[in-house]
Amino acid sequence: MTERTRVAIIGAGPAGLLLSHLLGRQGIESIVIDQRSREQIETTIRAGILEQGTVEILSETGASDRVHTVGRRHEGIELAFAGEHHRIDFAATAGRAVWLYPQHEALKDLIAARLAAGQDLRFEVTAERVEDAESDRPRLIARDASGAPVEIEADWIVGADGSRSVARSSVSGQRAGYFREYPFAWFGILCEAPPSAEELIYSNSAEGFALISQRSPEVQRMYFQCDPEADPDALSEAELWETLQARVPGTTLKEGRIFQRDILRFRSFVAHELRRGRVVLVGDAAHTVPPTGAKGMNLAVADVVLLSEALRSALADGDDALVDAYPETALQRIWKAQHFSWWMTSMLHLQPEASDFDRLRQLGELRTVVESEAGRTYLAEAYTGWPMPGIEAVLGR
Ligand code: PHB
Repeated sequence: MTERTRVAIIGAGPAGLLLSHLLGRQGIESIVIDQRSREQIETTIRAGILEQGTVEILSETGASDRVHTVGRRHEGIELAFAGEHHRIDFAATAGRAVWLYPQHEALKDLIAARLAAGQDLRFEVTAERVEDAESDRPRLIARDASGAPVEIEADWIVGADGSRSVARSSVSGQRAGYFREYPFAWFGILCEAPPSAEELIYSNSAEGFALISQRSPEVQRMYFQCDPEADPDALSEAELWETLQARVPGTTLKEGRIFQRDILRFRSFVAHELRRGRVVLVGDAAHTVPPTGAKGMNLAVADVVLLSEALRSALADGDDALVDAYPETALQRIWKAQHFSWWMTSMLHLQPEASDFDRLRQLGELRTVVESEAGRTYLAEAYTGWPMPGIEAVLGR
């Protein structure tokens, strides 16, 4: 049996859930499917930093109140290098801030909001392919947990299904995109300890990069640069603390039980095409950034802000101009974020083949940034998020 909806959304991550939420506010129905279970989505630890615009969207559209109660406002970060600590003051330079609010908490809020609104949200339904992308009745072919076929015909299909997107095959070709790999990865840990510092510390050290992040008053998230092939279980807890501590000289890390370890691969990717006919890509399905600038989830939200208004205009007013403009408009921010993420990554990490020249030049680059108000302001503007096109329409301002 073929079901019908206005917008079929593949993926119940931040992009898919937020799109369904914003469309729902405009009276546009959608069906969201995801191959994962609700529990998996709500417990997988992902990113932690939300731009100010992301927070405005989540709180002012009723998607999350907890971002203000559980989340915490950060008005700066520390850049550490050459044994020095330099604060980048977001409030003083960019007049903005970010919020530390774990992505899975935002997902819990979005799922609860969707279900409370009586929306059609289906877990453990796996997308197989998209058919007839170029007709005005594209179809999403999927399979539910019991293996039964699911077929949804929609006016529009949105691929919000992450970096291994199924939708991308019918838009841009699975591997068709601009791509860059990095010769390192992050070793991430979660530990039971109080924060070691007030703000996040991004540290360039002779041993390699480390990031001291946070999750809550009781749980901390930390990362250090490692080989992409590293075995997460090879180091003892004592060795992990020693590695981390050596990379943040001048700060005494508060240690505690390490209860999760993972390796994060680094890549930069932008799909060649973000739209074909009536199939559109958003979030990680369209692009991936390395995590150093904390742009991933925020970029997904910026895509969705643009696309929700574009789909509203197409479906409610019969005007396709904004959907036609979506790829070009979205790509401007995507490439700015690609640049920022690449820049933060290159400036802060130790390249495996780095010569003494490369290493000293990198310190010169860091010093250029922290000693210049323009440098600090550039970093702060990018980190807290450039103005989001379309946000006024979505927030009714
Ligand atoms: C995190 O807390 O997971 C995090 C924070 C900042 C980043 C990347 C990851 O730049």
